[in-house]
Amino acid sequence: NELGLVAVGFCGGQGKSGVDAAPMALIESGLVEQLKEELEFNVHYDGEVHQYSEIMPKEDPEYRGMKNPRAVSAVTQRLSEQVYEHARQGRFVLTLGGDHSIAIGTISGTAKAIRERTGREMAVIWVDAHADINTPETSDSGNIHGMPVAFLTGLAKEDKEDCFGWIKDDQRVSVKKLVYIGLRDIDRGEKKILREHNIKAFSMHDIDSDTPIHLSFDIDSLDPMWAPSTGTPVRGGLTLREGDFIAECVHETGSLVALDLVEVNPSLESHGASETVRAGISIVRCGLGDTLL
Ligand code: ARG
Ligand code: MN
Ligand code: MN
Ligand code: MN
Repeated sequence: NELGLVAVGFCGGQGKSGVDAAPMALIESGLVEQLKEELEFNVHYDGEVHQYSEIMPKEDPEYRGMKNPRAVSAVTQRLSEQVYEHARQGRFVLTLGGDHSIAIGTISGTAKAIRERTGREMAVIWVDAHADINTPETSDSGNIHGMPVAFLTGLAKEDKEDCFGWIKDDQRVSVKKLVYIGLRDIDRGEKKILREHNIKAFSMHDIDSDTPIHLSFDIDSLDPMWAPSTGTPVRGGLTLREGDFIAECVHETGSLVALDLVEVNPSLESHGASETVRAGISIVRCGLGDTLL
């Protein structure tokens, strides 16, 4: 039961600060101890919440309408190596974000390691209110947290090395192995992309039983009632129980190789112990096989 933990304090994929404080909030709430003691994982963690300040570009003007393109590219490229290194050694990889742009790093890292280790293509289950499949050109906001799936599937491509040109084919995943759960706020350009590529929403039955799965869990898939502290909340979401249930079901497949928890933003909550942080911990525990008894 080996687990690699990467804490990513990064908020540059969107406009609100605070989402970079989530890993610390989750860890301070005792997540690492719970993983070790209750869930009995051997945790490989470097003890750091990575801010990656040493690789931040000095200048980062918009490119193809993307905001902070070089910063997000540099962080995700580095994160990709960190995640790859854990996954290569057969560890389950848990990444605590950060905004959802970091999935460019996590999924590219696991996709490559899984290909090398098993010769198989990895599936991705994206639990989110949003599809995050905008290309730079279809995006209205320019926020890269709305684009990771486009870069990971190759629907968006770029030659410039320092603006995601580093992503190579062996780090990508197929749109055919992509499943969404929880979608309810999709941009116009995204709808077109989803229809054109016949991407499945709300269904897991296309992932055959032994395909390795990377679960990327955006806390805003939950209803704001359960997870109010997030940058782009959307009403009408999952209950915490439903979120836990999804994570449990994915765990039950026995095929889960990695889990991201993203978009928890403790600073957006006005009072008291963070409901949203607790919801995040609950999702992680369920995804890692926590059971009631
Ligand atoms: N679709 C919107 C955009 O592209 C919102 C994306 C929200 N993404 C997220 N990871 N919370 O800007
Ligand atoms: Mn910040
Ligand atoms: Mn998202
Ligand atoms: Mn979202």
